[in-house]
Amino acid sequence: MPRLHVNIDHVATLRQARNDTQPDPVFAASLCELAGANGITAHLREDRRHIQERDIRLLREMVKTLFNLEMACTPEMLDFAHGIRPDQVCLVPEKRQELTTEGGLDLSNISDSFADDIKALQNHDIEVSLFINPSPDSIETAAQLGADFVELHTGAYANAKGQNRENELKKLTTAAVYANQLGLRVNAGHGLDYDNVMTIAQIPHIEELNIGYSIIARAVYVGLDQAVREMQDRILAAAPPEE
Ligand code: PXP
Repeated sequence: MPRLHVNIDHVATLRQARNDTQPDPVFAASLCELAGANGITAHLREDRRHIQERDIRLLREMVKTLFNLEMACTPEMLDFAHGIRPDQVCLVPEKRQELTTEGGLDLSNISDSFADDIKALQNHDIEVSLFINPSPDSIETAAQLGADFVELHTGAYANAKGQNRENELKKLTTAAVYANQLGLRVNAGHGLDYDNVMTIAQIPHIEELNIGYSIIARAVYVGLDQAVREMQDRILAAAPPEE
């Protein structure tokens, strides 16, 4: 059964709307863990639009499950991650103007130092995941680069309807199987919600689901504890029994 990692960025989005101290994503992370989340994810963006460095430092101390730092592969962020030592780093593309991460990494156009950057993170005891679109080329390159995980971008699936959605699901399933064959571990995320998560939770080999927006949005109505528990229930109900 995939583990649920809650992305708490949008708690910080609300706080930054007033540039205040509340609501605190660190406190929210503890509540998510108490509700049964298996991990916490936060994205420190170059523009610091939601999560701040202070949050990451405190999350590193407070998170008792698994702490996954999403970040762009820049010298500044790499230095920061080496100092913080999250359990996992997920490298993502970042564009200043985007509302959220729009696509997976373009691994056909990476810096010469990319493989060394991955190795350096791993040398600091950090597992490295690459956020990619579910294409065979990206998976092959991720394996050649020596990543531990790929995180398959589920956004196209989440946005598609009808037959297109079926096609996107097929791509994700094929990608998960192929990544596993090449020795990569597999995560998934982006755009997952209470309705579409079950199909994704049934894809073989997926270990972790990173889910943010839908959980934090629901928490406004039902509270964070219930929002996390409801998502866990969906994942549990969807997953085929363990062998
Ligand atoms: N995974 C990655 C790599 C992301 O960038 C995001 C968004 O920050 C998520 C998962 C979570 O996406 P959502 O907020 O749509 O659940």
